Amino acid sequence: MKQFTINIPVGDGKQLEVNVTFENGIYRAESKDYFDNLLWAREKVIISANNLEELIEKLGKELKNKWQEHIQVKEKKEWYIPRRKLFNPEGDDNLQERRVIKWNTTGIFNLNNVKYWRAKQLYNVMIWNFWIPEKVKWLPEDAKQYLEVLTDAERRTYDGIISFLTFLDSIQTMNLPNINDYITAPEINLILAIQTYQEAIHSQSYATILETVVPAEKRDKVYYFWRDDEYLLERNKFIWWIYQDFIDNPTDRNFFRTVIWNYLLESIYFYNGFAFFDTMADLGKMVASQRMINYIRRDELTHVTLFANLIKDLKREFPDMFDEDLVYEMFKQAVDWEIRWSTHIIGDWIMGMNEETIDKYTKWLANERLNLIWLKPLYPEYTENPYKHLERLWDHNLEKWNFFESTVTNYTQASALKGDWNF
Ligand SMILES: [Fe+2]
Ligand SMILES: [Fe+2]
Repeated sequence: MKQFTINIPVGDGKQLEVNVTFENGIYRAESKDYFDNLLWAREKVIISANNLEELIEKLGKELKNKWQEHIQVKEKKEWYIPRRKLFNPEGDDNLQERRVIKWNTTGIFNLNNVKYWRAKQLYNVMIWNFWIPEKVKWLPEDAKQYLEVLTDAERRTYDGIISFLTFLDSIQTMNLPNINDYITAPEINLILAIQTYQEAIHSQSYATILETVVPAEKRDKVYYFWRDDEYLLERNKFIWWIYQDFIDNPTDRNFFRTVIWNYLLESIYFYNGFAFFDTMADLGKMVASQRMINYIRRDELTHVTLFANLIKDLKREFPDMFDEDLVYEMFKQAVDWEIRWSTHIIGDWIMGMNEETIDKYTKWLANERLNLIWLKPLYPEYTENPYKHLERLWDHNLEKWNFFESTVTNYTQASALKGDWNF
């Protein structure tokens, strides 16, 4: 049996909370104190239906019939976001009225006529970023350092961060298609599919690191680090829960929350981990792992842009859905969690990192990410990146570094697509 709650707007800014159960193929809606919050009707009502759409339709009718004068039941689409049909012969692909969600698209990828040009530009960057983890060289050097050079504390940090990054890429690989199911612009469906592929590649890159660097008997310990580390378990659960909520209950609000959550994951959660690899490389340690991270980071920057664009499109097309207070609240939660976890796993035993730099970096980064979606900083006094000096280790001109052992055929082919874009 599955249980969840639907909130139905009933006018005057009030919401009716209806408990829904799904058992043996039947949905049942039940409101114990039916309209208790309106104080004038107490009646137990149970409605059964074969599917969720039918249930919501029946609920709407029920409300309208009984309390017509008192209640304005909003149209179904305003609280329950429709999933894109795979193919819709009656659909309309015209560009003027196309919307990122809730549009009646045919399902055909007509990528010659696109509305969201930034998505096409991003496509070029993402394809040009093509790489595969198996071709990144010199990981065996890191394997030697892992055993002979790293301190126990550094090894623990390395393991914990790899574990968290593995979780993030696992959940992104599996969840992005759930979001894509609701997007009604093929040019955005296209890049979300590529992002999904890239997250899968990132998962494989951690497997490659573990296979090469970490002794075989320790690998599972890294994958399941959260079984013994309650900070990581709590953190992972917190990230998962908002995604799961949208899957179980695909309302407008949950969609918006899941999009903001994706943005926070892509734009904040990876970065203290990345800073750890940069800091280590700066000390001459685990340099090949940091190179792998550079490739991943280059991909992640396109994911940040993808979700920033999506958020701005939603704000323009569905201003009612855009809840600025909620965005700030979620940012605050995300920053608190990132600082708590990073302080726990990085501590003060890595030269160049400590509680203060983690705090400064995370808050500075949050401001930058808010700025990208045209919002004011949450921490206006945090204007400097404490790890600025590490940016020289980033991915500038990666292609010139000749990381690929064999010929760079794929890379050269991809470079030809570079074309004319601004990123
Ligand atoms: Fe990723
Ligand atoms: Fe990503």
